[in-house]
Amino acid sequence: MEQLKNKIVFITGASAGIGKACAEVFAKAGAKLILCARRVERLEKLTAELKEKFGTESYFFKLDVSNRAEVEEKINALPGEWKAIDILINNAGLGKGLNKLYEDNIDNWEKMINTNVKGLLYVTRSVVPGMVERKRGHVINIGSIAGHEAYGGGSVYCATKHSVTAITRSLRIDLLGTGVRVSTVDPGMVETEFSIVRFDGDEKRAKDVYKGLEPLTGRDVAEAVLFCATRPPHANINEMVIMPSAQANAFIAHRES
Ligand SMILES: NC(=O)c1ccc[n+]([C@@H]2O[C@H](COP(=O)([O-])OP(=O)(O)OC[C@H]3O[C@@H](n4cnc5c(N)ncnc54)[C@H](OP(=O)(O)O)[C@@H]3O)[C@@H](O)[C@H]2O)c1
Repeated sequence: MEQLKNKIVFITGASAGIGKACAEVFAKAGAKLILCARRVERLEKLTAELKEKFGTESYFFKLDVSNRAEVEEKINALPGEWKAIDILINNAGLGKGLNKLYEDNIDNWEKMINTNVKGLLYVTRSVVPGMVERKRGHVINIGSIAGHEAYGGGSVYCATKHSVTAITRSLRIDLLGTGVRVSTVDPGMVETEFSIVRFDGDEKRAKDVYKGLEPLTGRDVAEAVLFCATRPPHANINEMVIMPSAQANAFIAHRES
C-alpha cells in the first residue's frame, strides 16, 4: 500500500458504517484522513483511535453535506496542508422509508435527494477543481445496486442512486485527460446503521432485513474502495458491484430459516 502513504483521503459520512470502515482501511494503508459527518463526537473518537492504532493524522469537522453554503465554506476553509485532496470518497447517504410512492411522506424524499444527490454534487464541485489543477485525483462514489435496479417502495432512493450512477459516468467524461479518475462502488445488502436510519430507529425491522443470510460488512465495501484506489494510474475501475454471496440482485436473496 506504499502508494497511499501520506495521501490525503476525504471521506464523507465517516461516523458510521461504510464511511467509518473506509477510514479504518485507509488509515491502515498509511493515508491521512479528512473526515466529516454531522455526529462530530463520533469523528473525534474515531480519529483518536486511528491515531493510537496506526499513527494516522486526521482532520475532522462537522458537516451536513446537504447544506450547500456549509459545504462550500468548510471545504474552502481547509487548512493549507489539508487542501491537496488526493481521493474523495462520496459516501454520506441514506434511505428513508420503504413506502409506495403515492403514500410516502414527501419529507423522506427531500432528505434522500438533498443528501444522496445534491450533497454528493456540492462536495464534488468543491473538491474536484483542485484535483484538476494538480492533474491528479480520484473520486470514488458509493452508489448502490439501487442505482442499477428499481424495487417497490424504493422509488426515490433508487432514483437518487441511479443519479449517482449517471453523475459518475458523466463526470468521468468531463474529467477525461485531466488525470482525475472516477469510480463507483455499488453494494447490495450491507449491515450498518442504514436500515435503522431507513426505518426511523426500528431495530427489529432493521434486523429483519438481513434475517437468514450473511450480509456484507462495512469492511467488505471499504476493501473494495481500497482496491479501486490502489490501481496503477493507467487503470480505472469504472463500476464495482458487490453483494453478499446470498444475494443475487435487489429482489432475490437466499435465506436460511
Ligand atoms: N447499507 C447498505 O445496505 C447500503 C447498500 C448500498 C449502498 N449504501 C450506501 O452506502 C453509504 C453509506 O451508508 P451506510 O450503509 O454506511 O449507512 P450508515 O451506517 O447509516 O452511515 C451513513 C453515514 O452517512 C452520514 N450522513 C448521512 N447524512 C449525512 C449528511 N446530511 N451529511 C453528512 N453525513 C451524512 C452519517 O453520518 P451522520 O449521521 O453522523 O451525519 C453516517 O456516517 C450511503 O450512501 C448508502 O446509500 C448502503
